[in-house]
Amino acid sequence: MKDLLKLLDLSKEEIIQILNVGDQMKYNQKHGLTHNYLQGKTLAMIFEKNSTRTRISFETGMHQLGGHALFLSGKESQIGRGEPVEDTARVISRYCDGIMIRTYSQEGVEKLAEYASIPVINGLTDFAHPCQVLADLMTIREYQSKLEGLKMCFIGDGNNMVNSLIVGGLKVGMDVSVACPEGYDPHPDVLEFAKGVTDAQFTLTRDPIEAAKGADVVLTDVWASMGQEEEHAKRKAIFQGYQVNAELMKATNPGCLVQHCLPAHRGEEITSDVFEAHAGEIFDEAENRLHAQKAVLYLLMKENHLD
Ligand code: CP
Ligand code: NVA
Repeated sequence: MKDLLKLLDLSKEEIIQILNVGDQMKYNQKHGLTHNYLQGKTLAMIFEKNSTRTRISFETGMHQLGGHALFLSGKESQIGRGEPVEDTARVISRYCDGIMIRTYSQEGVEKLAEYASIPVINGLTDFAHPCQVLADLMTIREYQSKLEGLKMCFIGDGNNMVNSLIVGGLKVGMDVSVACPEGYDPHPDVLEFAKGVTDAQFTLTRDPIEAAKGADVVLTDVWASMGQEEEHAKRKAIFQGYQVNAELMKATNPGCLVQHCLPAHRGEEITSDVFEAHAGEIFDEAENRLHAQKAVLYLLMKENHLD
């Protein structure tokens, strides 16, 4: 594994390895054990979209691993003035040891990785959010002590989050059910992948209650993602009914978890009461971004040194 571009590229074993190393990173951090495996290494972080969690967790994670993280705003660097991604990749590869990028196009990230000689990590594109889903799986396993055989349910837009959840969930042996309005389905490549999975069940429905039946974890995300701000009003009307609320939670298994990648829009994709009732596990999920990403950084960057 040179890069982390999307979960479709990873095997079940690679995903489980990241989760195991993430657990170890969390243990080390909580117990004050030194884990400066990336001493002297620099991660370039390119942001062409906003971020709170991704920026803070990558920057802090690199610091805790003994390395350094460099924040590059898409707008303020030459990227914003149209320098080709092929050149940016080769230049950063001469200075740094890894690249984390948050941008719009998945193809752009794939091209960056093709031209970079150092690992590239997808910090969110319109297509995927692999780092978030690794943290989600880590949190679900922490709470439920297993992943295989559990039922994951996603309610809402067929966006980057659900694309990654379907792939990640099915790969680790979870059943996955998704409810989204017509015209807002997950990406065709992801649905194609799901079709080929034989050892776990995938369901796509228009009925949120049907999707939530017997779920062990319910996930949702904003109705309008970054870059879709002008569609917000239109989407708000279309997505009415695709909400995680007390009524929907009644259909789930006892002890069902709720996860939200955040930021959340209370009163839209999730009600305030459900959010607050599950705030503990939602903020554990946010915390696990740090630990899961430290695992990714370690696994991708540890061998990539000159000595
Ligand atoms: N969940 C997530 O990626 O949060 P940020 O947009 O704040 O990075
Ligand atoms: N789907 C959301 C996720 C934010 C972390 C977005 O892309 O804006």
